[in-house]
Order: sequence, then structure tokens, then C-alpha cells
Amino acid sequence: MADRKKVSLPYLFNKVAKDEPITMLTCYDYPTAHFQEHAGVDMILVGDSLGMTMLGYESTLPVTMDDMVRHSKAVRIGTPNAWLIGDMPYMSYQPSVEIAIKNAGRLMAEAGCDAVKLEGGAEMADRMAGIVASGIPAMGHLGLTPQSVSALGGFRLQGKGALQAKKIMDDAKALEEAGAFSILLELVPDRLCKLITERAEDCFIISLGAGLHAHGQLLIYHDAFGLYPRFKPRMARVFADAGKMIQDGLHQYVQEVTERTFPQPENWFGMPQDEYEDLMVLLDEKDE
Ligand code: KIV
Repeated sequence: MADRKKVSLPYLFNKVAKDEPITMLTCYDYPTAHFQEHAGVDMILVGDSLGMTMLGYESTLPVTMDDMVRHSKAVRIGTPNAWLIGDMPYMSYQPSVEIAIKNAGRLMAEAGCDAVKLEGGAEMADRMAGIVASGIPAMGHLGLTPQSVSALGGFRLQGKGALQAKKIMDDAKALEEAGAFSILLELVPDRLCKLITERAEDCFIISLGAGLHAHGQLLIYHDAFGLYPRFKPRMARVFADAGKMIQDGLHQYVQEVTERTFPQPENWFGMPQDEYEDLMVLLDEKDE
């Protein structure tokens, strides 16, 4: 996968047309981006979830545009070919269309993203339209939208009741009409995701905990690889428990240093005997 071609929007829509699921993960740093590039992940989201997964905050709200630009830049270096989406953090697009365009532009120009993502439905359609009209591909995000976690009453399933489900469907149409190339549905019932996916005409749908019927799947990298110590959400599967491997390795490191079994000669460098003897002479001269 090392020399695959750069993923583009036509490539992604072609996958949708061929009914091939799109793969997507979050990513926040250079080494992980390198691994994801080599695994052939189609789309990478530098999510503002980095506030929780990387910075240890309780929510995504304190994340700034500077945080997003710094992490997106590092990810871009590790993955030259994935379709890279920069997440727009809290209050980087809500205040006005102009502010939304300016900040979306920073993710493109300063970090090298291919697209941006913003949360919200019909009420954010003018921000979506403004960003798209500026030539920046944009993804919508509906269902559980973490920046509104307080208004939503916590990290919980959205669209379970008919009225709320209809509102999410209307929001999806509004975002599609505003020009979103894709919409992420987070934590909504699988049947609702299926209905929205079937009705999508000019955009494709990505599921995060919304079932199998979408055009593609997203997982939070830290959830999928056992790297988030606080909890493991039901929507995630641990594909490899890297967290446990790292923890075991750390215990071993502490033990081996304590017992002086690390380092060993292969881990250090010697000095030629004649240089060492010369050094002793120099030290003796200095002492005189
Ligand atoms: O920030 C993020 O990673 C996200 C996901 C929860 C979709 O927006």
C-alpha cells in the first residue's frame, strides 16, 4: 500500500458506485498516520476528539484551531495519500459564515487537509454552503454531535423516536443541498442510517456506531486499538489491544532497569582502549 495513488473525491464516489465500503479512521499524529497510510485507509479524520484522546480533556470543547492545525499538519506528513479531513473545532464556524470560511481555509492552507468537517444540521447549512462555495470540500456530522453534548444530554443514542429521526433526515437533506460531499452519522439507529443512505443522491454516508448500511465506516482510532483508558464505547471493536501491549512493555521496562538487565552491550557504545588511555593521561595532567 506504500505507493498507492492519492485518494480523491472521484475515487471515493467510484467506490460508492461499486458498492465498496469506504474505510475511515481518526488520527492525530505522524507515526499513526504512517501506519494508516500503509494499511490503505481511504479517509482520515483529524477529529477534535483529540482533545479527549490526546490531551486528556473531558470534552472536545477546549480544542482550538491552533491545536487542529498542528495535529493535522503532522498527520498530513505521515499520510500523503489518504483523503485528509480536518475537523472544525468548537466556535470555529458557529459564529458566522465568514469565520467558518476563514478557519476552513486554515486547515487547507496551513495543514494540507483535503476537506473539513463541521457538526450540525439545517442551522449550519449556510456555513456548509459558504465553505463549499469557497472551493473547500466539506463533510457534515449529524446524530451525536459531541460539541453539543450538553444540549443533547450526554453521549447517547440520537434519533430513536420518530420525530427526532425525521429531524435528522431533514438535516441530512439540508446539508446535502448545501453541498456536503459526505455526511457522518454518529450513534443513530441503524434503520435511520439505512433510510438516509438510501436517500442520499449527491453525497455519501459514513457510519460511526450507526450500523452496516452506510457507504463507509469510521472508528475512533483510540477505541479500535485499546488506547483510551477512560472507557470503550459499545460501537467500537478493539482490533488489536495496543494499549495492553504498551502497558505490558512499560512494566517490563521498569523491571529491567530496576534489575539492571537493561541496557546490555548491544545497546551502548564502547571507546577504543588507546583513546581511553589518552583520556586518562589528559585527566592526570589536568589534576597536576
Ligand atoms: O472529533 C471526532 O473524532 C469526531 C468523531 C466523533 C466523528 O468528530
